[in-house]
Amino acid sequence: MSQPVLGILTLYLNDAKQLEEKSVYRRMIIEGGKLGLDVFVFTPMDVHASKEQVYAMVYDPKTGKWSRKWRALPAMIFDRCRIQKSARFQQLLRFRTRYNHLTFLNRPLRNKWTIHQTFSQKQRFRQHLPETLLYQSSTDLKRMLRSHPVVYIKPINGTGGRGILRIEKKAGAQGIFNIQGRRQNRRIISPRKVSLSQLDSVVRKWCIGTTFLAQQGIPLRLPSGRFHDYRMLVQKNGHGVWELTGMAGRVGAARSVTSNLHGGGHAVRAEKLLRGWLGSQERAVKVMKTAEKLGIEAAAYLEDCFSSLCELALDLAIDREGKIYILEVNPKPAREVFLRSGDIETYRKSLVRPLEYALWIHRNKEAPASSKVTEE
Ligand SMILES: Nc1ncnc2c1ncn2[C@@H]1O[C@H](COP(=O)(O)OP(=O)(O)OP(=O)(O)O)[C@@H](O)[C@H]1O
Ligand SMILES: [Mg+2]
Repeated sequence: MSQPVLGILTLYLNDAKQLEEKSVYRRMIIEGGKLGLDVFVFTPMDVHASKEQVYAMVYDPKTGKWSRKWRALPAMIFDRCRIQKSARFQQLLRFRTRYNHLTFLNRPLRNKWTIHQTFSQKQRFRQHLPETLLYQSSTDLKRMLRSHPVVYIKPINGTGGRGILRIEKKAGAQGIFNIQGRRQNRRIISPRKVSLSQLDSVVRKWCIGTTFLAQQGIPLRLPSGRFHDYRMLVQKNGHGVWELTGMAGRVGAARSVTSNLHGGGHAVRAEKLLRGWLGSQERAVKVMKTAEKLGIEAAAYLEDCFSSLCELALDLAIDREGKIYILEVNPKPAREVFLRSGDIETYRKSLVRPLEYALWIHRNKEAPASSKVTEE
């Protein structure tokens, strides 16, 4: 059997060719080596098209050094590239098309609106969706505010809590709203009160340039005043089967309406946060079990509807009654949340599982069809 090779596909951050997750890749290369999987890192910019080779970034655990080597295009690819507005991203799109025949462990998913509509088609998932609509005019906003005391406005392709506006009807004051949020550059906009007509114009301006959703706000304010949610990671394992890797709680920065770590939030153990939030260990365990089943079924469903996935992180909002809502799904999740919550074992697992899955793919591709295992 040939030596399995996995290429981690990423994008340079800048012209100095820096990488964002180099320590994650180093760890994956080391773990890959232990499993007999040859792992290297490359970007579309490093591909020599006519030679079908890449000028790869390789890491040698013995010397602890990174270097460059010409390598054949890898048969399997773990795509870590997130959507961005840049020439580098355009080059990535061309790479994905041209090398479509290679085995990508994961393919790009769709925007938040398409995902929402896809989940909505099934009663199984519909019960876990906050009411959401595409923001097209002030009528949409009024409609949402008629049914919900809190509404979130967010871009369909946003990441890292960018461009998120929280609108809350002020209790006891008809026609007055509290607004608070984070601009596209993540700067916090301080809370302020506006009238309905002011709100209309704020939201209209907020939504210029890209498409936004208006979404029912789930009450997630902790007694400390901070907002929180949960990040759940499900991954395919070494048998090609979806499995829960772990779940962590995220608590937002003070004055922040989002709980993203990059917006100043911090990570905590999910069990502990949920126990406090729901009031008992028993309820927390029950809700986590329900969340696990939901996450696994959601990942399998999205893979069926679109194309290959090897992992999915779900941002879950859980209200005080223990009702679970899917806020969004992330096909290229960071693992940092587990490191930051002190859940080192889950962090390790999150890096190893895609490698074990790649080995499973490799074995199954090489094995004659009759000997392939099928698992439920
Ligand atoms: N409907 C909602 N109700 C309550 N809080 C929400 C809602 N939507 C978003 N939030 C808060 O804002 C955060 C960011 O929202 P969301 O995950 O949809 O956007 P994102 O910018 O894509 O985040 P990511 O960094 O995960 O890519 C959530 O983690 C949550 O804290
Ligand atoms: Mg999110």
